[in-house]
Amino acid sequence: MEEAVKLNEAFNSFTKASRSLEVYYEKLSDKVRSLTAEVEMKNAQLNELQNHHRRNLRLIAMGEMAASIVHEIRSPLCSIELYSSMLSNDLKGSKHSDMANGISTGIKSLNNILTNMLFFAKPQKPSMQDININDALEESLKILAPLIDIRGITLVKDNSDVIISGDIELLKQVMMNILLNAVQAMPQGGELKVYKEEGENYIAFAVRDQGRGIDIDNIERIFDPFFSTKDKGTGLGLTIAHKIMQSHNGFIKAERNRDRGSTFRLYFPKKGVADKRAGRNQPVNE
Ligand SMILES: Nc1ncnc2c1ncn2[C@@H]1O[C@H](COP(=O)(O)OP(=O)(O)O)[C@@H](O)[C@H]1O
Ligand SMILES: [Mg+2]
Repeated sequence: MEEAVKLNEAFNSFTKASRSLEVYYEKLSDKVRSLTAEVEMKNAQLNELQNHHRRNLRLIAMGEMAASIVHEIRSPLCSIELYSSMLSNDLKGSKHSDMANGISTGIKSLNNILTNMLFFAKPQKPSMQDININDALEESLKILAPLIDIRGITLVKDNSDVIISGDIELLKQVMMNILLNAVQAMPQGGELKVYKEEGENYIAFAVRDQGRGIDIDNIERIFDPFFSTKDKGTGLGLTIAHKIMQSHNGFIKAERNRDRGSTFRLYFPKKGVADKRAGRNQPVNE
């Protein structure tokens, strides 16, 4: 009898142990299932990363190739530009003067597109020096003068000098892109105003036009590569301007004017601030 009780107890505890083993087994299976799912997910992520890496390598190779093609095209274009400017000068006052000016302006705009493409394919590190931002402005305005004239645009600008730390060639490209957009936005003329605003840490360089303005739906997208609302636009001008401003520890902002047109502001850190930042090597966010 006693043995039967013992046997029963042993059987009960065996059943209990086997039940808890079952529960444990279930839990373990769950764990294995979730771990398997995690491994699969990680594998998929790894695959995607590898694909991404391969795509990046291909893009870098394509960028290098595009950059060298653009470079090859630009060299003869620069000589053509030089000759056409000489021709323009020689023909000043004659009836062919407008034609020569047209060729010159066309080549300059082609050059601007190529420079944007070159920068997009292979961004350049700025070589920083103390520069007067007004010099970059004046050079860009010189190139755009015939377009400004033809459209009957009134240029209003303050000529005060602003010394910042920057790369004049790259900043000329930023100015060209912003000013050209402003001029293109005013086919029927209007006022193009260029002025400076000073904040505690920043100097802003503002370009205000009275053009058609930026659609509210587009304001977030205008800095995206290849976004353009123009028939023949490349959509690279603002992307490049944004990138170059970032590489100068600055930034760019676009705004719809209350009355009409748009204002683009280029924010540069003030010289003392820029030097300190360069030392810390820390980019600035808006
Ligand atoms: N001053 C401006 N006025 C109105 N729209 C502008 C202005 N500047 C830029 N935009 C808008 O931003 C878009 C992108 O500009 P951008 O990158 O320079 O490319 P693209 O000039 O080749 O179109 C333009 O197509 C236009 O829709
Ligand atoms: Mg443009």
